Amino acid sequence: MLRIVVTGGAGIAGQAVCSLLAEQGMAAVAADVAPPRQASPSGVTFVRCDTRTPGDVRQVTKGADGVIHLAAWHCAHNPPVSDDTIYAVNVDGTYNVLSACRENGAPPVVFASSMAYGWGSVYSATKVIGEELWRSYHEMTGASVASLRYHDFVPKPYLDFGMKLLRNGVDVRDVASASVAAMNAAVARRFGRFMTIVHTAHGMPLEVVRDFRANGPAWCEEKVPGATALLQKYGLDRDLPGGVEQHDLSEAGRLMDWRPEIGFVEFLQDLKARDARGEDVRSLHAPGRLPAE
Ligand SMILES: NC(=O)c1ccc[n+]([C@@H]2O[C@H](COP(=O)([O-])OP(=O)(O)OC[C@H]3O[C@@H](n4cnc5c(N)ncnc54)[C@H](O)[C@@H]3O)[C@@H](O)[C@H]2O)c1
Repeated sequence: MLRIVVTGGAGIAGQAVCSLLAEQGMAAVAADVAPPRQASPSGVTFVRCDTRTPGDVRQVTKGADGVIHLAAWHCAHNPPVSDDTIYAVNVDGTYNVLSACRENGAPPVVFASSMAYGWGSVYSATKVIGEELWRSYHEMTGASVASLRYHDFVPKPYLDFGMKLLRNGVDVRDVASASVAAMNAAVARRFGRFMTIVHTAHGMPLEVVRDFRANGPAWCEEKVPGATALLQKYGLDRDLPGGVEQHDLSEAGRLMDWRPEIGFVEFLQDLKARDARGEDVRSLHAPGRLPAE
């Protein structure tokens, strides 16, 4: 059985990744400074590990068949953390994980990068440095490395989350499925070094992508009957984007056998079901995902 270490395994992405690894029959080790808030499912073991402490990471990566490196502080944390802490965890911590991996047989690595990559903040600079560190790791060891530039899955009110899917938002289940698909592909050595964006794929025709405000409501209505009335009822029709942000994810499909599954249609279906049950969707919070039915 493959033993996959997930740094930051108690976080939002970390818990989803660990659960999916366990579901797919792997032993997931959630290595984090803090334990997860919810009980871990069977197949997931929590190990306390501070990536800033080389001995902790050396210990936890011993015998690992792969490492998914998620541990980081980001700008959306509330209360905020200092740039010094962001740098220490995201850069020094990443270096320690890299060194430990070199000592422990150079397992394949999936690195959590970000669409904030290179965007004028210490956090975004740490993701540039992180991608570079893992590029060097690949060059030094030959191990397969994937850098995944996730879009935004920071917790937010449910309706905001849905609308964000048309812009720069992504569901944490797609973040988890991309991370595990990347690990499976790295273990199978389907690439040496690979980078992809992790985002939605709504399957919209080009005219809808280009002018959602004009063409989106009719397309939504066709996919989810009643959608236009729902958009109006919740005031979402006032927040429609002109163009929808979409990226070419075909290489991720080819190399990692991955495609996102949660888009605006799935959000509308979920909203429709909740509305029909009389739920107060305005008070719901989406921890980066549509809450379970
Ligand atoms: N949330 C987003 O929208 C988003 C977008 C792009 C990229 N990312 C990246 O995805 C990864 C996961 O993000 P998330 O939103 O799940 O964050 P999160 O805060 O929910 O999880 C991060 C985890 O890292 C842990 N951690 C912090 N310092 C640590 C240390 N020194 N040693 C070990 N563990 C430590 C925290 O305890 C936490 O459980 C991060 O690398 C983040 O930069 C997140």
